[in-house]
Amino acid sequence: MNILITGATSGIGEQLCRDYRQAGNHVIACGRNKEKLAALEASTTGPGKFTSLAFDVTERDAVAHVLGGYAKAYPIDVAILNAGVCEYIDDPQHFDAALVERVFAANFFGVVYCAERLLPHLQPGNRLVVVDSMARQFPFVRAEAYGASKAAVHYFARSLQADLAGTGIEVVTISPGFVETPMTDRNDFDMPMRISVTDASKAIIKGLAKRKQHIAFPGVFGWILASMQRLPMGIQMALAKRMKQSQK
Ligand SMILES: NC(=O)c1ccc[n+]([C@@H]2O[C@H](COP(=O)([O-])OP(=O)(O)OC[C@H]3O[C@@H](n4cnc5c(N)ncnc54)[C@H](OP(=O)(O)O)[C@@H]3O)[C@@H](O)[C@H]2O)c1
Repeated sequence: MNILITGATSGIGEQLCRDYRQAGNHVIACGRNKEKLAALEASTTGPGKFTSLAFDVTERDAVAHVLGGYAKAYPIDVAILNAGVCEYIDDPQHFDAALVERVFAANFFGVVYCAERLLPHLQPGNRLVVVDSMARQFPFVRAEAYGASKAAVHYFARSLQADLAGTGIEVVTISPGFVETPMTDRNDFDMPMRISVTDASKAIIKGLAKRKQHIAFPGVFGWILASMQRLPMGIQMALAKRMKQSQK
């Protein structure tokens, strides 16, 4: 299979590149840093082909030129839109809207720009896979920007899936819980049920092999968050405030 992965230079995307190449797939690794992409190519092994594409997902023209140019010329069976950033709001009374814009630029518009250039070239049976986050399911403190960007991109993907009915193109959403990557290494709070990046990659590869429409892991954490989401808003807020106190 030809598998395109954005955010290939770190964390979940990097592990997916390693595992898919090892299994004999053609990996099209996308990142914004050419040196990191070259290092990734040199350090991945296996029988699969490796192609790298360098562009920043927040730059619409670059996405059009590099990703759009590739998608027009070559087949892509699965496109995993995984690139993302996380920034927290530390002072809710004096937050900087530029932070929210930066997070949305990568996590929401990055996916939109990639989808814009991929969809015209995808064929029946091809899949557009969007990585959101379980953070979208609960009002976590300090996560106004990150959680909102992931809720927005999840909605975008689900709505797209409904709209693409009849084309044969499938849209898949992935909602990870906490995964050990450079993104979460920076967190200074407890991360319940955090799993290794190799387990995260395995869960994604297994879910996509089963042609699931939605992949969420770890399952127990997802179940707990889904249950919390169904609680009355007052109780959800009380739980969220308690989390804030425990972070002080
Ligand atoms: N780790 C978790 O617990 C967790 C949980 C839920 C969801 N997720 C989601 O999973 C995805 C991968 O996260 P991760 O934990 O693997 O994070 P990570 O280790 O920080 O990797 C993020 C990747 O995205 C790339 N990226 C960021 N901004 C970009 C941009 N403007 N243009 C192109 N590439 C860009 C980074 O490139 P550089 O190497 O150049 O920085 C890097 O390759 C993200 O969407 C994240 O929100 C992660």
